[in-house]
Amino acid sequence: MSSISDSFKIEEVRKAIDHLNSEAGTAEELMAGIPKVLLEKLLKYNWVGFYMLEPGADPPVLVLGPFQGAMTPHARIPLDQGICGAAASSGKTVVIDDVTKDPRYLACSLETKSEIVVPVFVHGCVVGELDIDSHFPAAFSYEDRELVEHCAKIVGKRLEQS
Ligand code: SME
Repeated sequence: MSSISDSFKIEEVRKAIDHLNSEAGTAEELMAGIPKVLLEKLLKYNWVGFYMLEPGADPPVLVLGPFQGAMTPHARIPLDQGICGAAASSGKTVVIDDVTKDPRYLACSLETKSEIVVPVFVHGCVVGELDIDSHFPAAFSYEDRELVEHCAKIVGKRLEQS
């Protein structure tokens, strides 16, 4: 369940993200800025980062991109592994309320309780994803999901233009 104050906060963060998008000169700048804004403004977001598909890799592999938070042991993730692999291979947002109950989960931090992974599309194809971990169980409400999907969408649009 999310409260009215959560909705106000999410709206404020969405505005900050849109401001960043209007100021960022390149897709790379936007991708570097999004994890900073989300981590700074939403205290329940404890690790925020992009994974991008390595161009030409066979079999495909996700490679850690811009991120904020502790270094993860998972800098490269094959598509048949992890919540990250599941989101990239299905092209669908994955929200895990309790990571201990999902056998696919690859641990980044022992403190992580819940996770959301949203694919980034360029011309309809998955090119990467935005991954967020929280130290709180079931941290990602419908509004969080919409916010993170918005972030992934504007990155995809910028990548299409570059
Ligand atoms: N938990 C992810 C791995 C990446 S770390 O969270 C940064 C997964 O299960 O794919």
